[in-house]
Amino acid sequence: MRTSAVKSVLFVGGKRTEALEAARNSGLRVIYAGPKADMTERHHELVDAAFLFPEFSPELALRAATALRDVVPFDLAYTAGDQYLETVARINHQLGLKSNPLRTVSAVDDKALMREVLRGTGVRQVASATIRHLSDLEEFVTSNGFPLILKPSRGSASKDIHIISDAAELAAVAVGPAFTGNAPAGGAASWVAEEFLEGREFSVETHSAAGRHQILAVTEKFKTEGFVEIGHVVPARITAAEHTLLTDETRAVLTALGVEEGPAHTELILTAKGPALVETHTRPGGDAIVELIRIVAGYDIHEMTFSWLSGEPADVSHEPLAGGAAIWFLTAEQGRVTAVAGEPEARSSEGVRFASLSAAVGDVISEVRSSADRHGEALAVGEDADSALRNAREAVARFLVTVEPLDPAGDPVHG
Ligand SMILES: Nc1ncnc2c1ncn2[C@@H]1O[C@H](COP(=O)(O)OP(=O)(O)OP(=O)(O)O)[C@@H](O)[C@H]1O
Ligand SMILES: [Mg+2]
Repeated sequence: MRTSAVKSVLFVGGKRTEALEAARNSGLRVIYAGPKADMTERHHELVDAAFLFPEFSPELALRAATALRDVVPFDLAYTAGDQYLETVARINHQLGLKSNPLRTVSAVDDKALMREVLRGTGVRQVASATIRHLSDLEEFVTSNGFPLILKPSRGSASKDIHIISDAAELAAVAVGPAFTGNAPAGGAASWVAEEFLEGREFSVETHSAAGRHQILAVTEKFKTEGFVEIGHVVPARITAAEHTLLTDETRAVLTALGVEEGPAHTELILTAKGPALVETHTRPGGDAIVELIRIVAGYDIHEMTFSWLSGEPADVSHEPLAGGAAIWFLTAEQGRVTAVAGEPEARSSEGVRFASLSAAVGDVISEVRSSADRHGEALAVGEDADSALRNAREAVARFLVTVEPLDPAGDPVHG
């Protein structure tokens, strides 16, 4: 049981309301502070009080939370929005509210810092270096060779992940979008280089309570050649021994980083030498993984979180609804969309729980460079992982997106 039960929560930002609903269901009082653009009708119905900012800034949120605490007291700041995690950790830290330590949340938010914090711990070591200049990258190659991964320290949605396989690719990166002259550019403030980890990729979903990490599921992940996620299935198709390796490594990572409580989503690659951490998050997995776990393992992550915070046991569970559940994403051909069809067919396809197509006539579809470049999704269940995966992929195959090619200037090509 949590030593200090929470009675009221300050929710910071976030458009989604599942966590808010779970907080209400656990009998908590809910105060909301966030950008006006995040607030929906449903938020209005759920919250006891709200404070809206014209725009979000971490400084403003911190000052607002400090001032609000005198008017509408709260025991904990929480967020369902990935981009607000560090701000929330700062609020809890500054106001002396018990939560995951600020240094833990900061390390999780910064891939270079995370590797530094894990250095010398029992966790499998992955060669890595903070890259500020091209010379840092050349030094990393001298020590670790090719191939390597270069990615933004604070990246998300698989944006700007580069694999560098030889000297020619290194030279191309030096003049490419990642670097201008000798300094990192291209949007990211800093970069991290890592040894390239080869193998199948998984995520381990957990809920922690008083530093004890409960495993909820192992998810198998599918990605494009450019490392963008295009599907997930629960349960992962792995042996019992592989399950143990992945979950033991996850627990070791969470303990080494100081995760105390709440959901975590830990991404690992199962290499020939065993599992190696890609990154972890002190939040539930995205891409409907929360839904996959609810269906297959019977755990409602938000319910567990607020049960724990309100002083009840964390390990509530329900009857699983299916043996397997999968989500698959549509990556459409490049060009300007001239016609879309197939959404009703996808929805009525076998095992489908939901399916939606987000491409519309007139949209320009470009190369898949991040999760935002996916244009449809289907979640399906099945008696096991294989059949769920087949059902989800078959549903996505029913989406029809017709495009006309674009010339290099972005105009349609005619004649
Ligand atoms: N060292 C590595 N070796 C091999 N592949 C890697 C490595 N680092 C990252 N990747 C690949 O790139 C993907 C995205 O990397 P990472 O998770 O670090 O960035 P991200 O932008 O936060 O991703 P996302 O938000 O999509 O989870 C990983 O899921 C993995 O497939
Ligand atoms: Mg990731």
